[in-house]
Amino acid sequence: VPTEPLTLVFSGSAVGAEGAVFDRQLAAFEGRNPSWRVVRHPTPDAADQRHHLYVQWLNAGARTPDVLQLDVVWTPEFAAAGWIRPLDELEPEAGDFFPQVLQADRLDGRLYALPLFVDVGMLYYRRDLMPDPPGDLTELAERGRALVAAGRTRYGFVWQGARYEGLVTVFLEHLTAFGGRLLDERGNVRLDEPPALRALEFMRDSVDSGLVPAAALAWQEEAVRFAFQNGEAAFMRNWPYAYPLLADPARSRVAGRVAVTAFPAGPGGKPAAALGGARLAVNARSQHAVAAAALVRFLTASDQMIERAQMAGQYPARRSLYDDARLARALPGPPADVRAIVQRAVPRPVTPLYAELSAALQVQVHAALTGQKRPADALSEATAQMRVVLERGRAPSARPSTGGWIAAGLILLGVAAARLILLRRRRRRPRAADPSPASPDRAAAWVLLAPVLVVIAAVGLAPLLWTVWESLHRHDLRLPALGRPFAGLANYVELLGTTRFWTALFHTAFFTAVTVTAEIAIGLVLALALAHVSRARGFLRTTVLLPWVLPTVVAALVWQFMFADLGVVNRVLVGAGLAGRGPAWFAGPILAWIPLLLADIWKTTPFVALLLLAGRQSIDDRLYEAARTDGASPLRQFLHITWPLLRPSLLVVLVFRTLDAFRLFDLVYVLTGGGPGTATEPLALYTFTSLMQSLRFGYGSALSAVVFALTFGLALVYTRLLSAADAEVDR
Ligand code: GLC
Repeated sequence: VPTEPLTLVFSGSAVGAEGAVFDRQLAAFEGRNPSWRVVRHPTPDAADQRHHLYVQWLNAGARTPDVLQLDVVWTPEFAAAGWIRPLDELEPEAGDFFPQVLQADRLDGRLYALPLFVDVGMLYYRRDLMPDPPGDLTELAERGRALVAAGRTRYGFVWQGARYEGLVTVFLEHLTAFGGRLLDERGNVRLDEPPALRALEFMRDSVDSGLVPAAALAWQEEAVRFAFQNGEAAFMRNWPYAYPLLADPARSRVAGRVAVTAFPAGPGGKPAAALGGARLAVNARSQHAVAAAALVRFLTASDQMIERAQMAGQYPARRSLYDDARLARALPGPPADVRAIVQRAVPRPVTPLYAELSAALQVQVHAALTGQKRPADALSEATAQMRVVLERGRAPSARPSTGGWIAAGLILLGVAAARLILLRRRRRRPRAADPSPASPDRAAAWVLLAPVLVVIAAVGLAPLLWTVWESLHRHDLRLPALGRPFAGLANYVELLGTTRFWTALFHTAFFTAVTVTAEIAIGLVLALALAHVSRARGFLRTTVLLPWVLPTVVAALVWQFMFADLGVVNRVLVGAGLAGRGPAWFAGPILAWIPLLLADIWKTTPFVALLLLAGRQSIDDRLYEAARTDGASPLRQFLHITWPLLRPSLLVVLVFRTLDAFRLFDLVYVLTGGGPGTATEPLALYTFTSLMQSLRFGYGSALSAVVFALTFGLALVYTRLLSAADAEVDR
């Protein structure tokens, strides 16, 4: 009996030609295994975003994807969290892989993934602008600046400068080029040493002197490639995938004029490439573990690696293939040279705590590059933070601190006191005519309410209580050996002592204050204007509402394009002669607020206007007629009729908007990612990062609880105000 094939779900990235390679190879797998069908789930290009997505799926216990494409730095983390299966059955195949590449796929000696391809950071240069590659970084900088000064290229050097994983790899290359290192053999952080400072200062000078455009401080791989591919830069740092794309005359303006070489050494160091690349792992919950492992074996086999190199330019992770004649035609240089570069490549620390180390480094390096901190300060801050992270990983168990207990006691006392005061007040107040407790109406009311209350308890209260409970524990998915000890208020104490928390709180309050004020002011004007139009009212209203209808993510992307380096805003500024070259909006700690605030105001004002319009229309027009007959000026009409009668609507708007703005997340996540550094990071984003990037569930839950308490407090104040306003209207 022919049976339906079973389905395996595969998820991978699709940068450059990667997606096409996967489609071809998955089809080949299906051809050989007719009882299986493989569905490909595309995931975001950006390493960090793919990481967050996987964390959400796997932490929720999803059974698919069965096979996951992981970045080289994630395997230990995912293995520690128990999300991926050990692949003992693939151990025999592992012999041919580069040892330091395979190293990253082990946790406590056990194999959890197989390398799919290796990435090494390479230097691309324009052969039409120079006959040979620069000897070292100093020469690179001199040539780049000279070419820019001579007007032969727009940018000297472009690299991945956004605050994300890619920046860490670029920094690592500079660091090695200047003779520095992240950690020593014993795992101690080494960023407070002179070579690290020289490396970061070199990067900062590169930006300050115009060798690297400030706009690049918001660029990831693809944005960097586009700049180079469009002929705008003399040098580019990027991964191997870019090579075939640059060589393709159908899309590249520099086809035939590009060469690739190793990332050069700086004074006192050696040429260095950061070791990157992808591997395949099997979801621990997959229901098709055997087939999934077979797919991993197939995709990491020699033939597939050669094909991947030919089609997508990605270097094989198997040593023997560098002697294969088929590979020679796929590589930009002699295979032996490429193999040597891979063998020398510098790995990032192999530890389940990597994501948090990287996050600390990303923020500090970015803050230095965007001029918010001196490189020396940024490095000592990064060193301190990374030491804390590593220390935390070593600590045998977490004792709830004494401070934690005292704080817990004080908070409980405070809550009890507040409760007492409230009860007393209420007793003093005369009761309104209340149906007697035993009345049948009251019982019926409870019965009718019961289903809703159950739903609210299940979807609102239970998760909330769970979060609070979680926040009292030290629960770190990357450190399963530590268990989940009770920690009292230690998480809260830590949070209150963290500058990043207070800054995020300030950002949230600032954003809320500015946007809500502006939205209400503009919304009011719009509403009153709309109330006066009689023709085409429906059409106008719909048009006004359009921005609000757009999904926030889409709106955020639109604003990102508008404020990009060559976006419409900069074109207008330059066209009007207001700026020689538009500013790099997303690289300025203050500038970055402008698109953020504008986007929110643009998007949400219509909603405010519509609510206020409804309020305005409920005001009886005869009041205005009477006022006009009495000779009242429009201003007086506004002050004495519109304003007081519109107050309840205004309050409703205020409540909605404040609470919404306070939870700001999606807009900023897409638009600025909270950067540069953490200059636009609100509380909700900080919480998300702690949960999804650092996997610190206890600490992240404490942050969520604080966000909840703050919004809830605000909501209480507002409901008070609202009922007062209602009472006033009733009078
Ligand atoms: C590439 C590399 C990966 C690195 C990432 C950073 O995908 O393969 O290892 O972390 O770029 O953006």
